[in-house]
Amino acid sequence: MEQESQLTRLGLFDARVPRYTSYPTAPHFSTEVGPSLFAQWIEAIPAGSRISLYMHVPFCRRLCWFCACRTQGTQSDEPVRAYAETLLSELKMLKERLAPGVTLSRLHWGGGTPTLMPADMMRRIAAAVFDAVPMGEGAEFSVEIDPNEIDAARMDALAESGLNRASIGVQDFDPQIQQVIGREQSYEVTKAAVDMIRDRGVASLNADILYGLPHQTPTKIAESVQKLLSLGPDRVALYGYAHVPWMARRQTMIPSDHLPTPQERLELFEVARKLFVADGYDEIGIDHFALPTDGLSVAQKAGKLRRNFQGYTDDLAEALVGMGASSISRFPQGYAQNAPATGAHTGAIRDGHFSTARGHVFTAEDKMRARLIEALMCDFRVSAAELIADYAADPAELAAMFRRCAAKFEDMVKVTAAGLEIPEKGRPLTRMIARHFDAYDLSKAGHSSAI
Ligand SMILES: C[S@@+](CC[C@H](N)C(=O)[O-])C[C@H]1O[C@@H](n2cnc3c(N)ncnc32)[C@H](O)[C@@H]1O
Ligand code: SF4
Repeated sequence: MEQESQLTRLGLFDARVPRYTSYPTAPHFSTEVGPSLFAQWIEAIPAGSRISLYMHVPFCRRLCWFCACRTQGTQSDEPVRAYAETLLSELKMLKERLAPGVTLSRLHWGGGTPTLMPADMMRRIAAAVFDAVPMGEGAEFSVEIDPNEIDAARMDALAESGLNRASIGVQDFDPQIQQVIGREQSYEVTKAAVDMIRDRGVASLNADILYGLPHQTPTKIAESVQKLLSLGPDRVALYGYAHVPWMARRQTMIPSDHLPTPQERLELFEVARKLFVADGYDEIGIDHFALPTDGLSVAQKAGKLRRNFQGYTDDLAEALVGMGASSISRFPQGYAQNAPATGAHTGAIRDGHFSTARGHVFTAEDKMRARLIEALMCDFRVSAAELIADYAADPAELAAMFRRCAAKFEDMVKVTAAGLEIPEKGRPLTRMIARHFDAYDLSKAGHSSAI
């Protein structure tokens, strides 16, 4: 109880704290990066190297009330077909600028709901991607699959195009919770999607579920987790439900009076965590679980777990190129984000240039802080020696930064001879501790030495 009040006092489950899938985070991007700099960064990718590609499909048939993702509802295929044509042109532009011999490390289709595309469209887009950047040795092709929005023809198209990692959205199996969050999906529908995936030999399955939903109780989340375990996913993302109706207007449909308190959220997470661990899953970072054979678990044990816009990854490619509206790319030089609105994105591609609207050029300090934050989010510890050797961090300044962090977070962090560590009990505060090292923190905007 005492520990819980200490966690709450130190900022537990503050929905405004970033998830640090990038540093600096997207709200700090500016117009310093535009289409021509993006094209230059593409052209600078070395010949023969490996890159990853993210493709965003911002359409859904239904708009779930809980969802904070950038997407729009459509019942007709018209806007999806028009968008697909844009993607094909964009991929051609990418191909024209890439050096020879560049191959794919990871390809991910996300959204929205990429599986609302008709089968023929999926095949054309996959073929265009591989024409622009062929799959490299051991490459992964993953797609976010809404179990309500998939059938045999579409699953065939994905599997025959080389899909080898499927990701399904589950959220929660409880019918009352599903109704309140505007996302109805029976266990049978989810199971049928999993069977379709497995029948086609897709090797790996990820599932997303949520804790912190209205009406969720320890008993209910335990039931949901057990149902999920019966489907045998290799990897699970257990996200904390972010209730941010000021950003995601759909969430105003969800009454806030049945949301769990921060203490209750902690308990819900713990109940789910224990069930995954008891079933043989390894804990990965702040919100993932993976079987020991899964790539995330292997990477974590080897100290090679990384974080990118899709969350945790074992991908070591230097560049992640985002295609489609609102997608964000990461290069060694910085970040570039495409125009968020599909109209503006399509307009730019039709005019013959990329739609890059915002971004950020890294400074040396950005790179150092980005690695520091990534290490905390992935490993709950950061090595001073690595930051000094690889990022030219000043040893005295670093030590002072760590001391200030310990002064603020008390025994929830530990300064060691090697660097800084977050012990088990401080882990629910990982994002808040990471924010402490964020020089761009909104509340501190305008101050260059924020900590
Ligand atoms: C972009 S969605 C795509 C999933 C796919 N369209 C589906 O519905 O199955 C990816 C995941 O983001 C997570 N997500 C969406 N809104 C969220 C929120 N408000 N808080 C936490 N996670 C959220 C959900 O777990 C969801 O499965
Ligand atoms: S959860 Fe999936 S289907 Fe529902 S609105 Fe979000 S992206 Fe669309």
